[in-house]
Amino acid sequence: MKNEKVPASEISRQLEIADQVRQILPAGRKYHIVTLGCQMNVRDSESLAGLFERMGFLKAETREDADLILYNTCCVRENAENKALGNVIWLKELKKIKPHLIIAVGGCMMQEEGMAETLIKQYPFIDFIMGTHNSYKVPEFVHTVLTEERQTFEVLNIDGMVVEGLPAVRNSNFSAFVNIMYGCNNFCSYCIVPYVRGRERSRTEEDILDEIKRLQDAGVKEITLLGQNVNSYMGGGANFANLLCKIDQMGIERIRFMTSHPKDLSDELIHAYASLKHLMPHLHLPVQAGNDEILSRMNRIYSREKYLDLVSRLRKARPDIGLTTDIIVGFPGETNAQFEDTLSLAKLVRYDAAYTFIYSPRAGTKAAKLPDPVTIEEKTERIQRLIDLQQSITSEILLEQVGKTLPVLVDSVSARDESKIGGKTPRAHMVNFDGPKDLIGRTVNVLITSAGKNTLRGEIVK
Ligand code: SAH
Ligand code: SF4
Ligand code: F3S
Repeated sequence: MKNEKVPASEISRQLEIADQVRQILPAGRKYHIVTLGCQMNVRDSESLAGLFERMGFLKAETREDADLILYNTCCVRENAENKALGNVIWLKELKKIKPHLIIAVGGCMMQEEGMAETLIKQYPFIDFIMGTHNSYKVPEFVHTVLTEERQTFEVLNIDGMVVEGLPAVRNSNFSAFVNIMYGCNNFCSYCIVPYVRGRERSRTEEDILDEIKRLQDAGVKEITLLGQNVNSYMGGGANFANLLCKIDQMGIERIRFMTSHPKDLSDELIHAYASLKHLMPHLHLPVQAGNDEILSRMNRIYSREKYLDLVSRLRKARPDIGLTTDIIVGFPGETNAQFEDTLSLAKLVRYDAAYTFIYSPRAGTKAAKLPDPVTIEEKTERIQRLIDLQQSITSEILLEQVGKTLPVLVDSVSARDESKIGGKTPRAHMVNFDGPKDLIGRTVNVLITSAGKNTLRGEIVK
């Protein structure tokens, strides 16, 4: 695995350009980032915000209030792409009223072959386009737009490198995402991520632990480690379970991570669930389908039996563990009987929650070439059956929490009623209860008093 870093000199050059932008940028200019897609994009947007603020932009709460709008796009399913395109077209109108508005597009969708070229031609009001591998160059792109008043785009068709040393504006001061690796080598046959995010590369253990130490010193209580497949983390020979042990020893209150691929979930990781004090009892373990033939055509490398065995070993190691998953319905050629296998697996595992998607063909992937005789009506009916089943399981599991007293990290205040706050239990269930909003960022003990459809209600116990 290549773990090459972008040279520190290149990062300092970008920071210098950011300082030059700061000199020429009219006062009071604001930026707004629209983030679509997964946690990877959320974390990337935090670094982009860090760079915009270094350039002297202030944060705008709404798009209408901004002088620079950046779309950080996703292309994992067709509807994610349509959302991005619909949004960008709307900006054309905004630019008519505010001609100095800078419009930028970045993210995974721009890494699709030919996409950036097409967009920049089709939408001349876009000022610059960048890909996922070179977004650290945003100061340079903004500088070009401001000084040369021309469109610019650069998307690199490379495997990607590790970027260190960017400033960041974090979304929360008590819960933080920390990348441990980038890219994906798995090439699940339906998935576009390996094409747009490049090959797997890991950050060094030292860089990760440094970042976590700084976050901990700043008061962060919860760390979520990010990677498309954290189980193949390889930072200077260290494996993922090892890394978790080291973070556990630092005494971070809550450790979470995503995402895990079942094919390389190690015995060490299962053991970590039994032995680590701060690793939260929750695991997102995407299964995608419950039928062996479909799993094999998806190139997932594990069988239904192997997956169920992992689940039982995880539950043996940590009986209170909550599992969540991703499921694709209507993979090309999926028969009704094969779909029934997915339903039966969901019944057996009893997930806390399942994120369910209708298969969406992605150009360039293997599955996009497979014949797909199943109608969209049939697929819609199948996914509804799955959603209904999962809803009844989720409700049962939430009811089982009633009567327990659990530590909750308070993360939000109700928009409608300021006396109501909410947060997550160790198992990642949302709980709402009465309390002052200055408890945000603190952990309180909450007695769970009742269960709703997807959330719990409770009361603070002293
Ligand atoms: N690396 C993560 C998933 C990233 S994509 C993992 O392997 O678990 C998030 C989810 O989107 C996937 O788990 C899958 O369920 C879904 N997905 C990916 N490609 C899709 C497609 N072409 N159609 C429908 N759903 C898809
Ligand atoms: Fe996509 Fe599979 Fe990689 Fe996940 S593991 S990002 S589903 S190719
Ligand atoms: Fe989407 Fe890119 Fe994430 S395609 S799901 S934003 S890695």
